[in-house]
Amino acid sequence: MSKRVRIIEVGPRDGLQNEAETIPTGRKIRLVDTLADCGLKQIEVTGFVSPRWVPQLADAAEVMSGINRPPGTCFSVLIPNLEGMKRAIRCAPDAVAVLTSASEGFCQRNINCSIAESLNRIRSVLAFAGDRKMLVRAYISNVIECPYDGRVAPAQVARLAHTLLTLGCDEISLGDTIGAGTPDRVDAMLAAVLEAVPVTRLAGHYHNTNGRALDSIKVSLARGLRAFDSAAGGLGGCPFAPGAQGNVATEQVVQALHEEGYETGIDLEHLTSVAAPLAHGMRSQQ
Ligand code: HMG
Ligand code: MG
Repeated sequence: MSKRVRIIEVGPRDGLQNEAETIPTGRKIRLVDTLADCGLKQIEVTGFVSPRWVPQLADAAEVMSGINRPPGTCFSVLIPNLEGMKRAIRCAPDAVAVLTSASEGFCQRNINCSIAESLNRIRSVLAFAGDRKMLVRAYISNVIECPYDGRVAPAQVARLAHTLLTLGCDEISLGDTIGAGTPDRVDAMLAAVLEAVPVTRLAGHYHNTNGRALDSIKVSLARGLRAFDSAAGGLGGCPFAPGAQGNVATEQVVQALHEEGYETGIDLEHLTSVAAPLAHGMRSQQ
């Protein structure tokens, strides 16, 4: 089985969206540029979401236009609907990430619609993206547990993942939004999803609320997953998921992977000494 692992850096979006204090656009641009310098080949730069819902990302277009775009690095953005897609397309992202949830409660609070309606939105985004040969990732939030609805059945995640694949999404990122995963529960969820979706189309997106994200990654590696989302400095959370804390820190993931003999292509030294402190310095409460 391959020892190559793909890391998708989501800190500039998933991390900064949760910060209460306005972060100057220039600092966000510097963070993205620094992460790219570390050899991160996939970076979720920002989100074209409603500035009323997430004021911190109101400068999405300025950030996207200000960053360096070295060839070979994929710069993606989060979009919740067709309106977001139409705003994003002007900045020519290499990929977009759409979102839904395995639970109704979070879907409503996060994007103000039902799961069924979120799938309709994803359909319209895919139709729009289709002509442009753009990669589309899909997030499923709360694959283990929802802060509003409680435990989520693995079969529900599997059904949704299969639907997203059938609709035409290229990759499905499995979000443990509130870090509720234990090795057993993550394994049970993956076992169900893998019945429905090839492993090469999956990524793990594990928040580290309970300090178990690295365990979830370990279980996922054993199940064959080779793509993981993480955030430099452990930035992150979700304003619409009470209790959701940082994503698993990119530097911790890379270190753990390298120790186990996996290759990431990432310069751990630069990441640890430059990028992670830069990200960490953007936290309002340190
Ligand atoms: P809504 O209020 O229901 O939208 O928000 P609406 O369609 O009723 O429109 C209301 C107004 O918003 C209109 O403007 C629209 O034009 C505008 P008005 O006519 O009143 O002036 N609008 C927009 N403006 C800018 N960009 C847009 C956009 N869409 C509508 N894209 C909406 C619905 C989905 C927009 C809103 O709920 C939203 O933006 N939600 C995003 C929430 C979010 O960003 N959450 C955090 C990210 S998710 C996450 O962190 C989880 C993840 O990391 C995975 C995991 O951990 O599990 C991905
Ligand atoms: Mg997240």
